[in-house]
Amino acid sequence: MRIYQAEDYKAMSRRAANIISAQVIYKPDCVLGLATGGTPVGIYQQLVQWFKKGDLSFAETKSVNLDEYVGLSPHHEQSYRYFMQSNLFDHIDIKPENTHVLNGLAKDAAEECAAYNRLIRGLGGIDLQLLGMGHNGHIAFNEPGDDFGLETHVVNLTESTIAANARFFASADEVPRHALSMGIKNIMNARRILIVVSGEEKADIVCQAFTGHVTKEVPASILQLHPDVTLVGDKAALHKLVEAGVSVCG
Ligand code: PGA
Repeated sequence: MRIYQAEDYKAMSRRAANIISAQVIYKPDCVLGLATGGTPVGIYQQLVQWFKKGDLSFAETKSVNLDEYVGLSPHHEQSYRYFMQSNLFDHIDIKPENTHVLNGLAKDAAEECAAYNRLIRGLGGIDLQLLGMGHNGHIAFNEPGDDFGLETHVVNLTESTIAANARFFASADEVPRHALSMGIKNIMNARRILIVVSGEEKADIVCQAFTGHVTKEVPASILQLHPDVTLVGDKAALHKLVEAGVSVCG
């Protein structure tokens, strides 16, 4: 695992965007696994900036997103489809038909999940998967205790995830209770993984995930077993890892 420690959120975003842009330049028709949440916003802003300068094109790139809330339409401001459109897709040249986000309104959620697994296989798998990490160690909506062998599935969100995401809604009551999410198996099948973390409130869980045992109680700990993981974090999120003796690149 490579670990890059950046000075702050902006530097972290730039470093992570650099890794994504290198992937797109190296293989323009690559499949990017994309993530939502607060952490990747700066990465997407940086990618948009480089696209606008003419340094980067996504014209042949395909994307698959990790997850979506059940019950939110793609036009709902808190849906992950909306997030991706407004933070990235609407500002770059990726073809709409090449962007894939699970449909939170699907009548048959199980079939939607199965179709998503088929879609990912049909695309030839994910070249680079971007991930954030929840305060409880979740990746995508794979919550503590979830089976590591799952592919895309319906998830009951935990109270801690609902509380963490309530900041995006008018109140916690409005946060959906279910989501569709790629499973750990989909994530582990990606050829490369880029996980990004920012802020002091992630420092404990980051340290636990990468220095502790691999355990279902900390879903991100499974990444210790992936052959090609890059962790990019700011100093605040990585300091406990550094104090535990893990070496990082600047
Ligand atoms: P955050 O979420 O980037 O908003 O902290 C990360 C996650 O829950 O995966």
